[in-house]
Amino acid sequence: MNIFYDIASLRQHLGKERHIAFVPTMGNLHDGHLELIKQAKQLSPCVVVSIFINRLQFLPHEDFDRYPRTFEDDCKRLAELDVNTLFAPDEKILFPTTQEFLLALPPVADILEGEFRPGFFRGVATIVLKLFNIIQPNLAVFGKKDYQQLHIVREMVNQLNVPIDVVASETVRALDGLALSSRNQYLNKEQRAEACNLYQTLLDIKHAIISGNRDFWALQDYATQSLEKRHWKVDYIRIHKRDSLMPAHADDTRLVVLGAAWLNQTRLIDNIEIDD
Ligand code: PAF
Repeated sequence: MNIFYDIASLRQHLGKERHIAFVPTMGNLHDGHLELIKQAKQLSPCVVVSIFINRLQFLPHEDFDRYPRTFEDDCKRLAELDVNTLFAPDEKILFPTTQEFLLALPPVADILEGEFRPGFFRGVATIVLKLFNIIQPNLAVFGKKDYQQLHIVREMVNQLNVPIDVVASETVRALDGLALSSRNQYLNKEQRAEACNLYQTLLDIKHAIISGNRDFWALQDYATQSLEKRHWKVDYIRIHKRDSLMPAHADDTRLVVLGAAWLNQTRLIDNIEIDD
């Protein structure tokens, strides 16, 4: 595997490639990331993975400093998957001066995650666009686990005419349903056993809707209360429209249930699409 730490040598290396699939990550690779990479490999002979923990998408009180950094293990896993190219710049490469140009995002970036993590999607969109410009891939793979991120990247690519296909990859789950995430490793044994209940709660909402319950407010409230009884601190449990990601009304179809909640110091997010 070729590892590049600077832009010029990466560009020189990629110059000869005809078709590139890109998987952006913040490292600490788990089976969820590996699924994105496997999908990328099916779509292109040349797969570029980036590892960069993007300070722009963390609020001052968030876990930037304690975010797991496991570069050597990540490299081993990427080599096992036969990834061609890893781009692992440090901050001085991507932010040689203060990043003063930041994208202005539409209102969809201020709801759900955006309500609780103001500026988060601005940071994500800015770094993703920078990485797109550096790597110039034909396609990029993003996980549905970060549903709103996927939506915003898609909208950005459409509205800014970025010539890249955004490919969605299904969420990878542990046997008990917990969506894989780097932040799962903050959970102790007891919290890990409890963590699958976020998914179970979203699943209960899905089943209720499929059975004909269209009182979305009552479903959201009931789900929030059930988690709170189990000592979760809920940021949101919401039923939204998949296509716009705006709140759903009783007669809407193509829905997604999204949730974010804290187990002690660990914030977990998840979502489930509902096909009707
Ligand atoms: O999903 C992530 O890991 C990050 O938000 C991303 C897309 C790599 C941007 O930093």
